[in-house]
Amino acid sequence: MFKKLSHGPIERNILLLGVLTVITISIGGLAQIVPLFTVESTIERVQGVRPYTPLELAGRNIYVREGCYNCHSQMVRPFRDEAERYGHFSLAAESMYDRPFQWGSKRTGPDLARVGGRYSDDWHAAHLRNPRSIVPESIMPGYAFLDRPLDYANIAAHLRTLRGLGVPYTDEMIRNARADLEAQARPEADATGFNARYARARQGAFDGNPDRVTEMDALVAYLQMLGTLVNFRDVTPEQLRQQ
Ligand code: HEC
Repeated sequence: MFKKLSHGPIERNILLLGVLTVITISIGGLAQIVPLFTVESTIERVQGVRPYTPLELAGRNIYVREGCYNCHSQMVRPFRDEAERYGHFSLAAESMYDRPFQWGSKRTGPDLARVGGRYSDDWHAAHLRNPRSIVPESIMPGYAFLDRPLDYANIAAHLRTLRGLGVPYTDEMIRNARADLEAQARPEADATGFNARYARARQGAFDGNPDRVTEMDALVAYLQMLGTLVNFRDVTPEQLRQQ
């Protein structure tokens, strides 16, 4: 009986082995791939996640330009120690509008996925200008030069490009990109339109000076938004621990 099932002929015929291997792998591949054709997206929609405001987007560009991702991750993994330190684990939806994503691969400094709201704007600006003035033993470089004016001449085009890639910016958002960027960086500016377009976005003099729009404003606005869009109030680290 065993003789009948012998692999001998297959192992001796390279062509037959090849064809059978392809058939076997294809079955496994189809089982994994075909179900995905029936779902619109593999990312679950989560309430609260919205495209970045123009100022946050400019700040995100500075984050990428300065290579902050080399030392900081933006992904809280679903482990208890991470949940206790950083908060709820990251959801795919939280980086669905990131191109490219900023998950990072190395933590020389702490994870930043939930740093928003943890410190004041002044704390961030002072820390970025000279990390050692706040954390004496820090090895993070200083970024005092970010106090220079922000170049946002092409911000509307940037929103339009992202829309081409699937980020749901509306015509109104694109038309008002410059005004929205300025309104967010100037706390006394009228922000009715801005607030209607972007939920849970905060105005502020992020760099401490409301009279000018700097790269520091943009970067701090971006950091202060990280992890704040989804309301995790109902899911605290304590609850995770009890499970
Ligand atoms: C050479 C590695 C390195 C680079 C590059 C770097 N950082 Fe850091 N960062 C650190 C370290 C280490 C700490 C922890 C000590 C401290 O707070 O300064 C830190 C802390 C922070 C914190 C405080 C986080 C917390 O939860 O306490 C923020 C915010 C931050 N960095 C933002 C940035 C931004 C924005 C950039 C890019 C402009 C950047 N970092 C670039 C190493 C780095």
